Amino acid sequence: MTNNTIIEGVDYGPLAALIGTWEGNKGMDRSPEPDGEEKNPYFETILFEAIGDVTNAESQTLAAVRYHQVVSRQSDQKVFHNETGYWMWDSNTNTLMHSLTIPRGVCVLAGGIYNASNTSPITLEVKAKLGDENWGIIQSPFMLKNARTVSFEHKISIEGDTLTYSESVGLEIYGKDFDHTDTNTLNRSN
Ligand code: HEM
Repeated sequence: MTNNTIIEGVDYGPLAALIGTWEGNKGMDRSPEPDGEEKNPYFETILFEAIGDVTNAESQTLAAVRYHQVVSRQSDQKVFHNETGYWMWDSNTNTLMHSLTIPRGVCVLAGGIYNASNTSPITLEVKAKLGDENWGIIQSPFMLKNARTVSFEHKISIEGDTLTYSESVGLEIYGKDFDHTDTNTLNRSN
């Protein structure tokens, strides 16, 4: 890992710290069950790739990082969460964006302002809320009715080759509110 945030002429700002393949086996998932919750220890791989920049309306430039996260249960070694999307960085406004999709029929566009004064660790923090016109959540009719995602918060901290994240997904499911959480610490393998 280098302190240089410019890759092939594109300035990725704090997102440069993400680039690489990360692995971690200390994950803990807390997810909803009809009679309460289940806790799933997990391991995972996340690949972050620098993919260049885009311009919007000839006035906004975003540096983009594409990622793919594959998560497996420790108990049976099977994949039980698969997620893909982008992290984007607008250096003019210090804005971070995180778009994600999961194969349950749920998409999120979360955003936040990067605090550049605190770089050790580098901390990326984004949020979205159902109904928010800026940073929102889209989901299928089935999910809206039966397993509604109402909020999303994601915080990643990176120090050298160690990445820690915590994620909180607010759900309305089985007639109650549930805080679906996931945390892990990963190391960069290349
Ligand atoms: C490491 C990340 C994650 C893991 C390991 C994980 C795992 C799980 C598990 C085990 C369930 C219960 C499934 C079942 O009972 O059949 C679940 C439910 C759910 N998750 Fe996640 N999840 C993760 C992240 C997310 C994210 C980022 C979102 C959305 C933004 C999300 C949305 C949901 C929803 C809507 C449900 C309810 C569906 C149901 O339980 O039937 N999850 N998740």
